[in-house]
Amino acid sequence: MKRKERIGSSHRKWSRLWLFLALCLIMLLLSCDQARSGNGTLGSSNHETRYDPGTAVRSEDSGRLDEGRGAGGGAPSDGVEDAVKPARPIVLGFSQLGSESDWRNANSQSVKEAAKEAGITLIFDNAEQSQSKQFEAIRRYMEQEVDVIAIAPVIQSGWDDILNEVQQAGIPVIIVDRAVDIADTSQYVTFIGSDFYEEGRKAGKYVLDKMAGSTGPVGIVELKGTAGSTPSIDRGKGFHDTIKDTGNYVVLGSEYADFTHEQGKETMRLLLRRLGSEIDILFSHNDDMALGAIEAIEEYGLQPGKDIVIVSVDGTRKALEQMIEGKINCVVECNPLLGPNLMQAVNEIMEGRTLPKRIVTPESVFTEVTAEREVSSRKY
Ligand code: AHR
Repeated sequence: MKRKERIGSSHRKWSRLWLFLALCLIMLLLSCDQARSGNGTLGSSNHETRYDPGTAVRSEDSGRLDEGRGAGGGAPSDGVEDAVKPARPIVLGFSQLGSESDWRNANSQSVKEAAKEAGITLIFDNAEQSQSKQFEAIRRYMEQEVDVIAIAPVIQSGWDDILNEVQQAGIPVIIVDRAVDIADTSQYVTFIGSDFYEEGRKAGKYVLDKMAGSTGPVGIVELKGTAGSTPSIDRGKGFHDTIKDTGNYVVLGSEYADFTHEQGKETMRLLLRRLGSEIDILFSHNDDMALGAIEAIEEYGLQPGKDIVIVSVDGTRKALEQMIEGKINCVVECNPLLGPNLMQAVNEIMEGRTLPKRIVTPESVFTEVTAEREVSSRKY
């Protein structure tokens, strides 16, 4: 090879080497820069593999929820904590008010099953009809930093302070079944449950139909549920509003029996002792009390469903069976199977969606005519 050609080929080799080294340097500088800004492969794969719904709503707040994790408001994310948080399922704390009735047990069961189905971790607490026990459970949920708190409130007053605490902690609240009577309704996201006033109206309408054409006074007794609870207040109001303009209806007695079978029986015994055969109609605010009252009426020597017309609320299988036997005349449905609705609301809150303030469950009325058909399909 000539000297000129040798020099040319060695220049080309050096230029290729320099080009290669320059490219390496550029790539090195670029990767350092990406690592610093957190947008590199490591950063983005961290971001992709970590799905923390609590964080997702906090850090990517859509603006539809007030602040923080949900409509309950709360502390803004500092970002650092988010980056190290492991992926975990949504955690829901549910304060159930008690286990006073078959309806309640069906409601608890529905919530537990629906949580399992939805892959939501449920921390369930039974407050045994005590509001202060509900407060304790809610405070524990705050300490445990659950994602959402659901409450089935035993009574409707007295919730302002505790809900304010939950709002400060930035945990969204869902009210289930019974309402809360509070000054600031931004303290909960949504209320899922029945329209108790409408249930009372349906019971009243049935009584008007059943007794249409009756001459002389119609004596009514009422077994109310838990004093201060929404179903007791609203069912009573709906019922009384419906019958009040009809001249011959007289409410002879109206007593609380806490929604339980035992108290229903005991209270009906007292009413019968006091009023005896003056009673034409019993309006019971739930099935458990009606079933207890049936025992008291039979003990007294009268025929439930005939001597005394019985109208109840809930729609449990036991009540429909009694209706088939002719001992209950009408049952207004109150649906306890709220679990799936609750889990859907939890998921939607965690996704940052806006929920309606009130979600009402559709319900019907069972009469002697429909009971036989319905009883086999009852789930509770
Ligand atoms: O809040 C719903 C009511 O509470 C149901 O009618 C009753 O059975 C329950 O105890």
